[in-house]
Amino acid sequence: MKDSITMKIALLGGTGDIGTGLAIRWARNHEVIVGSRSEEKAKADAAEYALKAASSYLEEVKGKVIGMKNEDATKYAEVIVICIPALYVYETLTKIKDNFDGNKLVISPVVPIRKINKSFVYDPSIVAKGYSSATEAIADILKAKNIVSALHTIPAKKLADPYARLSYDVPFCASNDYSKGIFLELAKDLSQHLNCLYVGEISLSNLVESITATILNISINSRKWDLSIKFVE
Ligand SMILES: NC(=O)c1ccc[n+]([C@@H]2O[C@H](COP(=O)([O-])OP(=O)(O)OC[C@H]3O[C@@H](n4cnc5c(N)ncnc54)[C@H](OP(=O)(O)O)[C@@H]3O)[C@@H](O)[C@H]2O)c1
Repeated sequence: MKDSITMKIALLGGTGDIGTGLAIRWARNHEVIVGSRSEEKAKADAAEYALKAASSYLEEVKGKVIGMKNEDATKYAEVIVICIPALYVYETLTKIKDNFDGNKLVISPVVPIRKINKSFVYDPSIVAKGYSSATEAIADILKAKNIVSALHTIPAKKLADPYARLSYDVPFCASNDYSKGIFLELAKDLSQHLNCLYVGEISLSNLVESITATILNISINSRKWDLSIKFVE
């Protein structure tokens, strides 16, 4: 395995679908803290992810996975990933915001979508009214200076398969060069095959968050599951 930065990464709501793959893959190089509303659930899932990482990646695993309540994980970690459904983001972050240091890096894969009739539509007001994206709402709630909007188009099922290559393009937005740099390193540690493409500043996050609504509607109409994206020249 290549040399890499080693960070303490909290996955708030890391007991769910996207948290599973992030934890297993980042366990190779980082200290992953699975966050949950329940400490017991966080610890149980962390132990399960650690076992899965060890049995899948063998001697590549140099990091570890531990579990904590979301508020404790927020205080302990250097990077906070919001792995919570859009509808519960505001309530969760409002509860933990006093434990968040505004200089830490936040990564938001949050996709604010709702189903109307048989189609998915993009609606950032699910997180909070008055923002054009979930990421901008999250930055405001946490008073986060360093924030990245990314990973929305990676299917959780593929991410959680330790052997899946993840040959996808990953459009992302970042608040500054520091955030961009750390994110690019962390993305490489998920898979060397992820191709991260910078879209622009955080005010453009609606563009990247809404791609998932398009993908999900295509999935339903074409009955093809776990789709992602790749741009071609
Ligand atoms: N699934 C995907 O393929 C995918 C891909 C890209 C991005 N995303 C985005 O990633 C985020 C997480 O998605 P997911 O599919 O992993 O979600 P999920 O599995 O449905 O839920 C993740 C976790 O959220 C917590 N949670 C549930 N209800 C809650 C509530 N009322 N208050 C606070 N926490 C609650 C739960 O953790 P505890 O019960 O342990 O607290 C749960 O394990 C979403 O914003 C989604 O848009 C998902």
